[in-house]
Amino acid sequence: MKKHYRAIWMEENSVFMIEQNLLPFEYKIFEAKTCAETCVAIKTMLTRGAGSLGIAAGYAMAQAALEFQNSQNYSKNIEKALFDIESTRPTAQNLFVVAKRVFNAAKISPQNALREAQQAADDDAFCSEKIAEFGNSLIRDNSKIATHCNAGWLAFVDLGTALAPIYLANKEKKNIFVYVDETRPRSQGARLTAWELSQENIPHTIIPDNATGYLMSTGKIDLMIVGADRIAKNGDTANKIGTLEKAVLAKTFNIPFYVAAPTSTIDFSCETGRNIPIEERSEDEVLYQTGTDENGILRKIRVASPNSSAFNPAFDVTFAQFITGFITEKGIFPPSEIKNLEKF
Ligand code: MRU
Repeated sequence: MKKHYRAIWMEENSVFMIEQNLLPFEYKIFEAKTCAETCVAIKTMLTRGAGSLGIAAGYAMAQAALEFQNSQNYSKNIEKALFDIESTRPTAQNLFVVAKRVFNAAKISPQNALREAQQAADDDAFCSEKIAEFGNSLIRDNSKIATHCNAGWLAFVDLGTALAPIYLANKEKKNIFVYVDETRPRSQGARLTAWELSQENIPHTIIPDNATGYLMSTGKIDLMIVGADRIAKNGDTANKIGTLEKAVLAKTFNIPFYVAAPTSTIDFSCETGRNIPIEERSEDEVLYQTGTDENGILRKIRVASPNSSAFNPAFDVTFAQFITGFITEKGIFPPSEIKNLEKF
C-alpha cells in the first residue's frame, strides 16, 4: 500500500472509512452516504478505535445537519441524530465529545458543522503527532515494547496513540521489537496492529493474550504502551478487555506501563473508573472466529462448545495505581495530574 490514507475522512456528503472488519485479508474503502449508514458502520465496528469513533461520530453529525438543512424541524432532527449517534457505542469518550462539538456547530449552520467535523479530524491527527514525539522520548535503543489491542493509525485519523511513538522510534532507526497481544475475542492486535507494523517493516511478533506474564517474568518486555477509550478524573482508564491484567503484571515486575491518549479522551465528569460505562458485545464474538482458509476464502467458524454461551465485556478499567504515566499531546503526566489537565 503506497498511497497515504487517513483511517476515515469525509468528501461531499459521504464518509469514507477503511473497512477494518475485513483487514488484514482485504483492503477496502467503505462509503457511508447518510448519517444512518455511518451509525451502522460504528455499531458493526467497520470503523473502530477511540479516535476514529470520535471522528466518525462528528462526521455523522455533519451528515445529519446537511441531510436536514431544508427541513422545518432542523433543530429537532439534529437533536434526534445526536441521540442516535450517541447510542451506537457507549465507552469511547471521543465519540461523545466530537458528536457534541459538531452538534453545537450545527446549531449555527450545516456548513459550520462540516467545518467543525473536519477541524476535529485535523486536531486528532495533530494530537497523534505530539503523542509520537513525547512517547518516543521513553523508548530507548533496543527496547522490547508490548502493546494491547490496536491503537495505531486505524484507531485514530492518522498515526494513532500507543503505536505513534513506536512509528517515530522506528523512523529514527532505534532498534525496537514489539510484542503484539492477539486481543481476543476480536483479535484487533493479531489482525490490525500486526498488519500496521508489517506495513512499516517494524520487527514484531504476535503473542497469545495469556503469554504476557511469562514474557514479563522472564525479562522479555521493557515497556508497555496501550491506548485508552475513556480516562476518569483520577486516572482510572477504560481500555480493551485484558488491559487491567497486563497493568497489574507490569507493576508486579517493575515494567513501566504507559497509556497514550489525547486529552480529549479524559472524561472530567467521571470521578473514577467505576463510573465508566462498559460495553457488552454479542457472545458470537467469543464463540466464533472469522478468518481465511488455505484458499483465501473468508469463513466464520465456531470455536467453542456447541451448547455453551459466552459473556463478552469489551473493555475493562485499569486502576490509576497501575499506570506509570499518560502520554498526551500536552506532555507526559502521572495519574495524579490528570485532574489538573482540565485547566491546562
Ligand atoms: O472495541 P474497539 O476496537 O473500538 O476498542 C477500542 C480500542 O481499539 C482499544 O481499546 C484501544 O486500545 C484504545 S482506542 C485507540
